[in-house]
Amino acid sequence: MRISHRARAVAPFYAMEFGKHAAALEAQGHHVVKLNLGEPDFGAPPAVRNAMREVMDGRPMAYTAALGLPALREAIARFYLDRHGIDVDPARVVVTAGASAALVLATAALVDPGDEVLIADPSYPCNRQIVESFGARVTLVPTTAGTRFQLDAASVRSHWTDSTRGLMIATPSNPTGTSVPAGELAALCDLARERDAWRIVDEIYLNLGDDDRGRPPRSALSYDPDAVVINSFSKYFGMTGWRLGWCVVPEPLVPAMERLAQNYFLCASAPAQHAALTCFTPESLAVCEARRVEFAQRRAIVLDGLERIGLPVPVPPDGAFYVYFDVTGTGLTSWQFCERALREAYVALTPGRDFGVHTAETHVRLSYAASADELREGIARLEKFVASLR
Ligand SMILES: Cc1ncc(COP(=O)(O)O)c(C=O)c1O
Repeated sequence: MRISHRARAVAPFYAMEFGKHAAALEAQGHHVVKLNLGEPDFGAPPAVRNAMREVMDGRPMAYTAALGLPALREAIARFYLDRHGIDVDPARVVVTAGASAALVLATAALVDPGDEVLIADPSYPCNRQIVESFGARVTLVPTTAGTRFQLDAASVRSHWTDSTRGLMIATPSNPTGTSVPAGELAALCDLARERDAWRIVDEIYLNLGDDDRGRPPRSALSYDPDAVVINSFSKYFGMTGWRLGWCVVPEPLVPAMERLAQNYFLCASAPAQHAALTCFTPESLAVCEARRVEFAQRRAIVLDGLERIGLPVPVPPDGAFYVYFDVTGTGLTSWQFCERALREAYVALTPGRDFGVHTAETHVRLSYAASADELREGIARLEKFVASLR
C-alpha cells in the first residue's frame, strides 16, 4: 500500500515507544517504574467519575454542537474569570478532543503551506508534526537554561524571517516543566502581534503551576486577548483518557474553527463533556488544588534524589510535572541512558531526542506524575544504576 509522504514524514513519539518496551517487560513479570509518560496517577476527581456514571444511564448519547456543549463552554469561561480574573466570552471557547485536537484545529485554521512557525527546542514534539502536516515549515529555536529552555524575545527576533507567520509556545513546558517568565511572555506576544503573526500558547499545565506571589500563574490571555490559548482536562483535572480539552480563540477565528471541527471531529466526546461540567464545582476544584500541592511534594522527592545521584537539573520545574536532567556526566548519551535504565533498572524515562535536537543527546525527561512511592523506588533504582556506571 502506498503511504502518504505526510504520514511517512511523521516521527514516532519516543515516550510512547519506550512505553511499549516497558509494557513488554511488565508482561514478562518485571515491575517497571514508569516515569516516561505525562499521565497523572490520580484520575478524574471523584465527583466527575460519579457524574459520568449518572450520565451513562442508558440515554442515547447524541453528538453535541461542534464547538461543544454551551453549558461547558460557559463553565470554562467562568473558570477563567474565577481563577484568573479574565473575562472570556463563552462564544470564544471551543471544546475539543483533548488539547491535541485543539492544536490540530488551531493549526489548520492558521497555517498555510510555506508558512514558517517558530517553536522552542526542546518542546512538545507533536506540535511540529502537526504544523508540518499542514505544509508549513517549523524552525526550531535552540534554547538554553539561561532562558529556562523557553523562547525569549531576543532569540525569536533573531530567527524571524519574511516567511514567519506564527509562534507556538507551551508554558509551562513539556519536557522541562518550566514557564516563560510573565514579562517575557508579554514581550513575545507583543513582538508577534506587531508583526501581524499569530501566537498559539499551550497552557495545558498552567493550572498546575506554582503561585505567582500568592496568585495562580497568569494566562497569556491576561496580556494578549488575541492569543490562541490551548488547555485541557487531561492534566490539572487528571482526565487523560477522557479526551477532552479546549481552546480560547479570537472572535474572528470562531467560524473557521467551527467549520473545521464539524468536518474533522463532529464534536468532542459527549459523555465526557456532560460529566466534565462537574470539574468546576468547588468540591472538584479543591481536589485538584490538593493534587497540585502533592505534585510539589513529588517534585521535591525527584529534585533531591537527582541531586544526590549527581544528575544535574539545569532549571528546576515550576509547573508541569517534568524534570529535564543532564546525563553528560554519566558518559552515556540520553538515548543510551534511557535504554539501559529500562533494561537494567526497569525505570522508563524519555530521551531528549523526542523534544528537539539541541539537547537531544544530553538530556532526559523524567515525569513525576507517578505516585510518591513509585518515585522513591525509581530514584533508588536510578541511584544504583548510575553507581554501576562509575
Ligand atoms: C504541551 C502539551 N500539549 C498538549 C498535550 C496533549 O494533551 P491532551 O491529552 O489534552 O491531548 C500534551 C500531552 O502531554 C502536552 O504535554
